[in-house]
Amino acid sequence: MGELRGTHVPVLLERCLELLAPALDRGGRTVHVDATLGLGGHAEAVLQAHPETVLVGLDRDTEALAHARVRLARFADRVHLEHAVYDELPEVLDRLGYPGVDGILFDLGVSSLQLDAPDRGFAYAQDAPLDMRMDQTRGVTAEEVVNTYAHPDLARVLRVYGEEKFAGRIASAIIRERERARITSSARLAELVREAIPAPARRTGGHPAKRTFQALRIEVNRELAALETALPAALDRLNVGGRLVVLSYHSLEDRLTKAALADRVRSKGPIDLPVELPGSGPTFRLLSRGAELPGEVEVAANPRAASVRLRAAERIDPDAERQRRTDRERYRRRVKAMHQPGTGSTGSGTGPRSAPGDGTGTDEEGEGHDY
Ligand SMILES: C[S@@+](CC[C@H](N)C(=O)[O-])C[C@H]1O[C@@H](n2cnc3c(N)ncnc32)[C@H](O)[C@@H]1O
Repeated sequence: MGELRGTHVPVLLERCLELLAPALDRGGRTVHVDATLGLGGHAEAVLQAHPETVLVGLDRDTEALAHARVRLARFADRVHLEHAVYDELPEVLDRLGYPGVDGILFDLGVSSLQLDAPDRGFAYAQDAPLDMRMDQTRGVTAEEVVNTYAHPDLARVLRVYGEEKFAGRIASAIIRERERARITSSARLAELVREAIPAPARRTGGHPAKRTFQALRIEVNRELAALETALPAALDRLNVGGRLVVLSYHSLEDRLTKAALADRVRSKGPIDLPVELPGSGPTFRLLSRGAELPGEVEVAANPRAASVRLRAAERIDPDAERQRRTDRERYRRRVKAMHQPGTGSTGSGTGPRSAPGDGTGTDEEGEGHDY
């Protein structure tokens, strides 16, 4: 394996390690899944920090897997590397014989290996064949998308996945051009997009082709469909105390992540009942307050981190959580009763200073109230 093209600094590495540590450091063997192995930067740090942890690393890009295999060679006896799309995680874990796992990381999007490769067509700044497949062994290329999609489909891809205001104009320009000659190169596409955007708008919001390239990449790799299936499946495979960390790089990924977590952290019982019914309580608690952003120092050192949003959650034991909430509710009622007229107490500060499960200062109470 030759030298890597470009460099890759794992994004929010220290924060990811901090969040995963309680789940991976529980004595004995634990299992961590890196669902987007890439060049193995996060995975290497996890393996270094947790000598008892087994890693299951997935990537749909065979080239990334080959690089990660070299990088992680010294941990080979506790590493499984799999060529798979992350929505295939349940099948991979079944095949390897891991019914439950303790840590899962999704570091979404493209790697610097893919972005910097002159021959893969991800980057608008380099001329290359319009491919953009993360898995070059299967699927349609960006060239096929731009040369075959009808105007409404092309415009929808650019508007929805690229949040591109000028989606209709760009789609029209693409269709006009392909009637003249097939569009085969990233440089030609970037030029077409630039020409289709009104001149004043070209000067704002980065390179004019950035949003179109992002949209095509998402479409070619069916990124959002895979993520929508993969997140619930990943949450289902976490052991109690297990933790999931997701790094998203655009709002659509972050919205899917937020929705998948919201579904698990809320009670499904009737809202007017003071206690949880068995089986209706939350199965996860949030570890991040809303979406965490990178610090200025990290962004300065690693421009790829600029758009990152981190969300994390831990699987909880619903029965223990139900008991804790019931205890807390009983305690609240007792305190309330003490303050009622005629109960002999005026709340003069002589009441209990703490009680089991009183909920004071629990971290989950302060977390994630944007849901
Ligand atoms: C941002 S990079 C990961 C970098 C990695 N954390 C590191 O430290 O080197 C994202 C990786 O996820 C892979 N990937 C993206 N979507 C995927 C999917 N649906 N299934 C499997 N791998 C995917 C890409 O091929 C890429 O290598």
